[in-house]
Amino acid sequence: MSARKIIIDTDPGQDDAVAILLALASPELEVLGITAVAGNVPLPLTQKNARIVCELAGRPDMRVFAGCDTPLKRKLVTAEHVHGKTGLDGSVLPDPVMGLQDQHGVDFIIETLRAQASETVTLCPLGPLTNIATAFERAPDIIGRVQEIVLMGGAYFEVGNITPAAEFNIYVDPDAAKIVFGSGIPITVMPLDVTHKALTTQARVDAFRAMGSEVGRMVAEWTDFFERFDKEKYGSAGAPLHDPCVIAHLLDPGLFSGRHVNVEIETMSDLTLGMTVADWWRVSGRAPNTMFMGDVNADGFFNLLTERLARL
Ligand code: RIB
Ligand code: CA
Repeated sequence: MSARKIIIDTDPGQDDAVAILLALASPELEVLGITAVAGNVPLPLTQKNARIVCELAGRPDMRVFAGCDTPLKRKLVTAEHVHGKTGLDGSVLPDPVMGLQDQHGVDFIIETLRAQASETVTLCPLGPLTNIATAFERAPDIIGRVQEIVLMGGAYFEVGNITPAAEFNIYVDPDAAKIVFGSGIPITVMPLDVTHKALTTQARVDAFRAMGSEVGRMVAEWTDFFERFDKEKYGSAGAPLHDPCVIAHLLDPGLFSGRHVNVEIETMSDLTLGMTVADWWRVSGRAPNTMFMGDVNADGFFNLLTERLARL
């Protein structure tokens, strides 16, 4: 069976980094390219971090593109308080040697979707949806050519993490999210409702470190750093490992469960800007547009992640 073609759109971020490593360690996936977007940290850092992670994975051949440096309409909000100043705090890695592609990330997304057979490419956004929405606005013809969008973002029963109502990726660019969720493309969402059940407990971090590899050490250091903020905030036994849930779903969808519901994005209210209004009980009469995940087999997820990372 041929590998599933994906484009990873990302704002590394330690959890993005682990997701990229998981994808590059998995032969079931063909990563056509990685497009960086401004999010956790500004674009110059997210594109640099994406290249650092590719080199850590032994993939200096991977094409990394810089995309949009600001949201569609709003001022960029970043998350150095979570990810540190570099976006990959917790580890000290050398600057990347591999180059950044000259082409803009949005143009790469458009060109790739036009060149590949229709409905054979899955988009995997792990950050704000600015690049994806910009591509759809600039080239509406590509919308019908996307196989599926599997993204990390949103929250409903778990409520928000950057405001009481909104999850960070959606909050940073709610206008972009509105475009993506309104595109009609099959969407699977990994919201905080499910990622908050994928916690980096000490035993799981120890398993990363026990790999004895540079990758295992890096992932352990990143999660040790990344989790300090969430453990204090939530009093949980570890940090939610958000973005790797997207890649794990591609590899083993049976790890996750959820419900196909309507999800709309709040773009007007200052109080609830960026909220993903999930019609879980189907009371709105609005057509379902999203597979909204709510549960994960956490042990199965971490077993898959650890087994795959050990291959690098
Ligand atoms: O809210 C969690 C999301 O925001 C994750 O994708 C994390 O990397 C940040 O981008
Ligand atoms: Ca991210």
